[in-house]
Amino acid sequence: MAYILGIESSCDDTSAAILENEHIRANLIANQKVHEAYGGVVPELASRAHQQCIVPVIDSALKQAGLTAQDLDAIAFTRGPGLLGSLLVGTSFAKSMSLALNIPLIEVNHLEGHILSHFIKETEDSPVPEFPHLCLLVSGGHTQIVLVKSPFDMQIIGRTIDDAAGEAFDKSAKIMDLGYPGGPVIDRLAKEGNPNAFVFAEPRISGYDYSFSGLKTSILYLIRDQLKVDPDFIEKNKNDLCASIQYTIVKILMKKLCLAAKDLNIKTITIGGGVSANSAMRSAIVETGQQLGWTTFVPPFQYTTDNAAMIAIAGYFKYLNHNFCGLDVVPFAR
Ligand code: KG4
Ligand code: ZN
Repeated sequence: MAYILGIESSCDDTSAAILENEHIRANLIANQKVHEAYGGVVPELASRAHQQCIVPVIDSALKQAGLTAQDLDAIAFTRGPGLLGSLLVGTSFAKSMSLALNIPLIEVNHLEGHILSHFIKETEDSPVPEFPHLCLLVSGGHTQIVLVKSPFDMQIIGRTIDDAAGEAFDKSAKIMDLGYPGGPVIDRLAKEGNPNAFVFAEPRISGYDYSFSGLKTSILYLIRDQLKVDPDFIEKNKNDLCASIQYTIVKILMKKLCLAAKDLNIKTITIGGGVSANSAMRSAIVETGQQLGWTTFVPPFQYTTDNAAMIAIAGYFKYLNHNFCGLDVVPFAR
């Protein structure tokens, strides 16, 4: 039996989680509200907020798990990719804690964390995906189709050549002045809108790769042209715009995923990353899965956006494999 502390500080969430083997004991996230006023994450403010939050968040996670630091068996932290100053806070803290407690240090790739989040067990008999499976990883920084052969063997078979899916949501929201991050706002407003009200350009790109920059331009031009006719166009059509944009993003994502699943003949499909919180995305995976005979895994909401539980589970796999790192490890931005 092992208690693993996970620490995640790659962007604007300071998170600490504790797993008892693969079972969740605590998962706490301090969201940084400071960035809202700027319409995006300000790296320097993010690092400062991590500095302020990291001790209380880890302390609270230990309390919630009913443990003390001395009970921990290993510390897993996000090494990258992410904002360097933010990663440095988590990395330095993890290093000093492992040194003080004399327990192993485990470095985790943030993206592997999202992919392995399906192995966190909420209950004794939570089902987990089999290997190999395909993961659609959709976050604010990444959009990839990953062939997951084992916790240690993953192959990116498709990726975005420009914007990530989360960026497509966030940039569309910015055009409509809906605030940051835009994904959750679009999701909410789309519920009251017609997904077929507006038609936007879809990429024509070969293989399993994605592109979202054309969609952004298409949205921008439509809104610009309509605003010339009616200055209240956005306000009057907000819900329909959101529903149509969301519909198009999900359609683009699903098209390549279906193609990859068919070509590789893989029927276990997972989704991870912030955009997997999107209600239309979640329904699309489940409904397409029912039609095509897939076994699908959609993460619980708390494991979709950035969290330390996913870092702890990835760390647990490495712990079992004695895959530890030294104190000379440094974070990487990309
Ligand atoms: O995984 P994540 O928390 O951070 C990164 O690793 O990037 O993903 C954040 C992204 C943001 O772009 C945010 O707008 C998007 O996930 N997001 C959503 C929803 N919730 C978060 N996008 C669409 N619908 C949502 N409900
Ligand atoms: Zn993430």
